[in-house]
Amino acid sequence: MSSVTVEATRPYEVHVSPALDLAETVSATLSPGTAVLLTDSTVGSLHAPAAEEVLRCAGWRLLDTVTVPTGEASKSLSVYEEVVRGLARAGMPRGGTLFALGGGVVGDLGGFVASSYMRGIDFVQLPTSLLAMVDSSVGGKVGLDLPEGKNLVGAFLQPRLVAANLDWLETLPSREVSQGLAEVVKMGLLAGSEFFEDLARLEAAYAGEAEALQALILRSVRYKASIVVEDEREAGLRAVLNYGHTIGHGLEAAAGYDLPHGEAVAAGMLAAARLGSERFGTDLLPTHEDLLRAAGLPLEVPAVDVEMVLDAMGRDKKRRSCDQPGEYRFVLLRDAGRPERDVPVSTVEARRAIGAVLAG
Ligand SMILES: NC(=O)c1ccc[n+]([C@@H]2O[C@H](COP(=O)([O-])OP(=O)(O)OC[C@H]3O[C@@H](n4cnc5c(N)ncnc54)[C@H](O)[C@@H]3O)[C@@H](O)[C@H]2O)c1
Ligand SMILES: [Zn+2]
Repeated sequence: MSSVTVEATRPYEVHVSPALDLAETVSATLSPGTAVLLTDSTVGSLHAPAAEEVLRCAGWRLLDTVTVPTGEASKSLSVYEEVVRGLARAGMPRGGTLFALGGGVVGDLGGFVASSYMRGIDFVQLPTSLLAMVDSSVGGKVGLDLPEGKNLVGAFLQPRLVAANLDWLETLPSREVSQGLAEVVKMGLLAGSEFFEDLARLEAAYAGEAEALQALILRSVRYKASIVVEDEREAGLRAVLNYGHTIGHGLEAAAGYDLPHGEAVAAGMLAAARLGSERFGTDLLPTHEDLLRAAGLPLEVPAVDVEMVLDAMGRDKKRRSCDQPGEYRFVLLRDAGRPERDVPVSTVEARRAIGAVLAG
């Protein structure tokens, strides 16, 4: 098994394989037509020429490859404008297909372009980072950042197809591999049972072993897909995916977004494990530590102002507006595979849990 079907309103396949035959995979779903490839400058120089050639050989009329600068700053209105205008200049028709070759930035930006250019064109995700393979390319959330906050502009758009070639990961820096594995650890802890047991392969995945990577990516995609099809437009269930993210987002904001997301989430999960063991009596902290260590993640983050973390958590857009002041709502684990949503946590408890994951 090297693919997962996402049972969205219009179902689509997520293919994950080493030496993926991109021409065959794409042709099995879409008849060749007009296309534009979107990528970033890092991924573009490494992997775009091969992808272009494969698409052309499969019969696609590739109008252009649009390359945006590497990094989160490309999820902006100004880069969005450049990309849609690039499509217009290239003569991209309503029936065209946008292929997004890159990490979560290219996927989120490309998806938003595809959702809005001519009121919507077909979209194919070719995720090249581990985070994009396990997380951002599944679920249909696409969008941009504003100076006022991350992901404030967006849409829901399911791709026609996701095709991940594990060979692309060979050029991904190991610190980036860890950022993706943080989400794998999160989903394995939430899912429990066989997925949780398969987390024993984290060390091999971190070392780049294709079989371990493929197994964990497929499990993550299947798990995330199972949650998002139940809750395609984010009514509630999907909130479990926020495990470790309440404090994680607070840490990122307090660090001025200088902290990689996966490392912030790892610290957020450790803090949540402490809160969970206080609340439910099951001590999952050593388990969390072992898993995160195997994924090459640090067990603490550089010290930041705890009050700034709490302040940023208070402003988390996912928080329910009717919450009492000074109270936060967390996803906590009763045990592996037994998440509990909406657990009230006081400021005092949150402050203590955050303090425990700060260095020094
Ligand atoms: N839509 C969603 O549901 C969702 C979920 C999670 C995260 N996200 C978004 O995803 C983004 C983060 O994704 P990301 O971590 O992939 O960031 P990214 O796209 O910036 O990629 C990380 C870095 O790795 C490089 N890279 C990617 N693939 C590579 C490869 N094969 N070889 C060498 N270098 C490679 C990129 O150029 C970049 O420098 C954030 O903007 C976040 O908001 C979206
Ligand atoms: Zn995350």
